[in-house]
Amino acid sequence: MRRLSFLWRYLRRHPVRLYTGIASVLGSVVVGMATPLLVGGAVDQFRTNPTSRVLVTYGGLLVLVAAVRGAFTNAQRMLLVTLSRDVEQELRDDYFAHLATQPQRFFHRHATGDLLARATSDLQAVRMLCGPAIMYTANTVFTAVLTLYFLFDIHAGLSLAALAPMPFVALATRVFGARIHQHFERVQEQFAALSSRVQENLAGLRVVRAYAREDRERRVFAAANDELVSRHRSLIRWTSAFHPLLQGLVGVGFVIVLGYGGGLVVEGVITIGEFVTFNFFLTKLVWPMIAIGWVINLAERGLASLARIRRILETSGAGEQPSPEEAGVPGFRESVAGHLRFTDLDFSYPSVENGSQLQVPVNGSVEPALAGLTLDIAAGTTVAIVGHTGSGKSTLLSLLPRLIDPPPGAVTLDGVDLLDWPLDRLRAAIAMVPQETFLFSVTVGENIAFGQPEAGEEQIRRAAELAGLESDLSSFPRGLDTIVGERGITLSGGQKQRVALARAILCDAPILLLDDCLSAVDTQTEERILTNLRTVFPGRTVLLVSHRISAVRDADEIVVLDGGRIAERGTHDGLVAHDGLYADLDRRQRLEEELQAI
Ligand SMILES: Nc1ncnc2c1ncn2[C@@H]1O[C@H](COP(=O)(O)OP(=O)(O)OP(=O)(O)O)[C@@H](O)[C@H]1O
Ligand SMILES: [Mg+2]
Repeated sequence: MRRLSFLWRYLRRHPVRLYTGIASVLGSVVVGMATPLLVGGAVDQFRTNPTSRVLVTYGGLLVLVAAVRGAFTNAQRMLLVTLSRDVEQELRDDYFAHLATQPQRFFHRHATGDLLARATSDLQAVRMLCGPAIMYTANTVFTAVLTLYFLFDIHAGLSLAALAPMPFVALATRVFGARIHQHFERVQEQFAALSSRVQENLAGLRVVRAYAREDRERRVFAAANDELVSRHRSLIRWTSAFHPLLQGLVGVGFVIVLGYGGGLVVEGVITIGEFVTFNFFLTKLVWPMIAIGWVINLAERGLASLARIRRILETSGAGEQPSPEEAGVPGFRESVAGHLRFTDLDFSYPSVENGSQLQVPVNGSVEPALAGLTLDIAAGTTVAIVGHTGSGKSTLLSLLPRLIDPPPGAVTLDGVDLLDWPLDRLRAAIAMVPQETFLFSVTVGENIAFGQPEAGEEQIRRAAELAGLESDLSSFPRGLDTIVGERGITLSGGQKQRVALARAILCDAPILLLDDCLSAVDTQTEERILTNLRTVFPGRTVLLVSHRISAVRDADEIVVLDGGRIAERGTHDGLVAHDGLYADLDRRQRLEEELQAI
């Protein structure tokens, strides 16, 4: 019932169509009742008075009934089927909007293909539940009630005998319904797993090819596909046994009517016309009886799918938090200065439970990614972060726009706990170039303007120039209007990085986070871009992660991370004099440069 009340929230937004749709179903059923009565009447009339007038009158009436009924049927479909499409659209919108608010960990728990399956085949099953299921349920109920009335009106005893198989129909429906539901769930699960597989393989196509794993992937896919078909087969076995069984039971009813009803005609208890009418009405019951099975099937599928969609819609997002006023945050200001403070920050990635759909295996180690980190970054300063791979640099940066949530009180922006900031304002204050660039399959210009869609061409060009993209743009066939292919596949690694950098520059945010954003460009280009960037840095708080000393030496402060802890901090000269990790890194990189110069 809870599942239906969830659906009701959507259905009740369209009361006019819902109720007039159901009324049209009633209309078509009521008008349809005239047909058996007319045919029976015609038979009786014709026996006593076989004239062409009788023939024409009854024939004309039958045509009229068919026309009116057709009009109602048309209306019912127009109203209820479009209604189901609208509900589907609203559910899909809500689903997508909900996914967009989910925190990172949600996507660690749910495979993309599974989320896609819910948005496609599950949503379709829910649509069938809203449209056809409502339509046929109403039809069945109205038809059953009216038909039973007319049957009993003709002869109660005959009706009872004809309906004797009914309890068996109900029984068969129950038993088969449960099985069908169970098998359908299994089919949906496997379909989701298969979708995940396809999605991952397409996304990782280059890796698959590079490692020549096509054959293996094909075999794994074929096995999963086989499993899907075999689950479908089990489902088909049950559904295909179900329908003939129902029809057989219905047939028994007709045999009874033929024997018992024929006797009644011979005895003169009912007329031949009434016998014909009775049979006609009984035929009208056949469809509802079969429809019950079908509707139950639809309802089972729809409800199972609805539950799967609802489970997603009801996981709470990351975006819920008190409003700034409610939070009663002291010193909350309209404009963001960009003062960041980390206080004794410990952070460990949540260990991921075992589960088939999980994609992030973690090998038992619970090493914290960041430990006891205390750091104060004054507004408007540039702080560089260096450290070995895996030392926690990206983790530190990801905490700021809350791609992952820091522990309460550990990180503040302008003196306010990050967790108390409204997420949209926090993120608007931060422009980030993540370590792994992601481009959309639109034009270069649109990719740059992703965070500022209203930006003018001139601004976009300027951002591109600052990011060192100028010469690349002139080499692209259509400059800023060049389409970059899926995920930017037509660009080089360094070009992609610079598009992402331009995107961040265009945002003009008070805080700029650059996570190793020039790792794929050569040292000279990096030098040139950094010179450009220094014109952008003043007045902003910049966190700059890099593996290259040349990129970080001019920062106001350099922080060296080691195993999630701050190992050293200071200016370039101070750290070199300190002769620790940083000085070691500096020495090695200078040596490399000298070797290259030879
Ligand atoms: N999503 C995640 N789930 C679990 N552990 C993670 C996740 N991301 C990173 N880690 C772990 O956290 C630690 C710090 O990773 P992080 O990405 O911050 O390193 P990094 O300093 O940015 O490294 P690199 O220089 O290679 O980019 C590593 O031990 C890594 O394995
Ligand atoms: Mg990193």
